[in-house]
Amino acid sequence: LSSTEVDISQIAEGQAITVMWRGKPVFIRHRTAAEIEQAKADDSADMKDPQADEARAQKPEFLILVGVCTHLGCIPLGQKDVEPKGEFGGWYCPCHGSAYDTSGRIRKGPAPLNLPVPEYQYLSDTRVRIG
Ligand code: FES
Repeated sequence: LSSTEVDISQIAEGQAITVMWRGKPVFIRHRTAAEIEQAKADDSADMKDPQADEARAQKPEFLILVGVCTHLGCIPLGQKDVEPKGEFGGWYCPCHGSAYDTSGRIRKGPAPLNLPVPEYQYLSDTRVRIG
């Protein structure tokens, strides 16, 4: 399947789900107001792969990312409440310690690039098509 449709209405604020798309995990995180605020505040931080948060989420509440570390392809942790989110509050790659922020931007460690944003479009307020 080249695209996949996801019902996002059941993802509570602060929660995340993982769906598969083209054989890869895609992370969908319903960000809290604090996470969005942090991501925007960090827009001006020194980054390896500078990108504004606004350019990474069509709706700031829902961050949609390919969940594959841009270093050597491990799957970062941070999707579940019990998992470490790393020192920038987003995701943490246990393979070699890359830390991503609440916008999925690389902030520390060997990964060269931000977690990629896949192509997606909102079909309604509660449905998203990825791909
Ligand atoms: Fe993620 Fe190396 S694969 S830090």
